[in-house]
Amino acid sequence: MRPDESREIRIVPADAPGAIELASRRLREGKLVALPTETVYGLAARAADEAAVRSVFEAKGRPSTHPLIVHVRGAEDALAYASEWRPRVAALAAAFWPGPLTLVVPKRDNVSSIITGGGDSVALRAPRHPVARAVLERLGEGFVAPSANRYQTISPTRAEHVATSLAGSPVDVLVIDGGPCSEGLESTVLDVRGDVAHILRPGMIGRDAIAAVWGGPVDSVVSSVGEGPRASPGMDRRHYAPQARLEVAASRELATLRAAELAPRKVARVSFGPSAGAVALPADAAEASRELYDLLHRLDAEGFEYVIVEAPPPEISWEALRDRITRAAGD
Ligand code: TXA
Ligand code: MG
Repeated sequence: MRPDESREIRIVPADAPGAIELASRRLREGKLVALPTETVYGLAARAADEAAVRSVFEAKGRPSTHPLIVHVRGAEDALAYASEWRPRVAALAAAFWPGPLTLVVPKRDNVSSIITGGGDSVALRAPRHPVARAVLERLGEGFVAPSANRYQTISPTRAEHVATSLAGSPVDVLVIDGGPCSEGLESTVLDVRGDVAHILRPGMIGRDAIAAVWGGPVDSVVSSVGEGPRASPGMDRRHYAPQARLEVAASRELATLRAAELAPRKVARVSFGPSAGAVALPADAAEASRELYDLLHRLDAEGFEYVIVEAPPPEISWEALRDRITRAAGD
């Protein structure tokens, strides 16, 4: 690397003395901090600092039209960013915050259009992870935090993933290492601007749980991925892709056949629950979701050319994982 391209990625354990203070000071200075949330690691910048927000896009290599989520302590901060906070939206926040639910609401004028991709809505989420919460408390205001990976690569669920993914990035990043993320897949993104709530990105907070609180129709915009207008800018088909070519097979039998067909190339077959010759993810949806990205990162590190994933069980609890592997496959 030439000296003019040099940048630094430093990893600090979350429980090191002063780590939280260091993170919030860096944010106040307009620098970027990667930190754990319960879903995935986020690349944080102070939401009120336009230059810092711009450098998030630069660090990720992400197009400027893809809006960012503003992370807040809780509903008490919502009106600093939202122009309206209806009772039924407040009810969702009361039920699921802090936690992996992102609410898309009308934005206040003070929210930079750099954050919203030029749009008039803003996405808000109160993370549950103690490190993210501690930094928000210390900072006293919101930060934006997309997943802390280069554009169109798998989201990081460990500090090492961040360091690997952002190694080629042109921006200095401090990584706060809080260990592996407990959820492992990105938050549910829910547009709550109308009478119908629209799930723009499925996550571990599912449609039934949302509907029970929302008290009105809840739509999934997810099935139209890759077709028609894009509901959530940034939901590109290959948004979660590993380096290896990932394919989803309709059944375990077809996955086995496909893997045999690809031999002698370096092929990994991924099953849900044990299967001879396969790399097994747990048969439980929440556990498999927690481990999926870590497994894909490891298979990449081991240089697999192909990853053949068998179709996960059809139950609704697998929807978020199904969405991510379908995107990673780019089909
Ligand atoms: O779990 C998560 O949400 C993680 C952690 C770090 O909090 N963050 C995350 O951010 O996944 P990112 O930037 O990788 O994904 C944000 C998603 C994108 O699909 C984006 O299009 C959508 O949220 N989004 C953000 N603002 C939006 C808006 N105003 N309207 C519609 N979709 C929006
Ligand atoms: Mg992302």
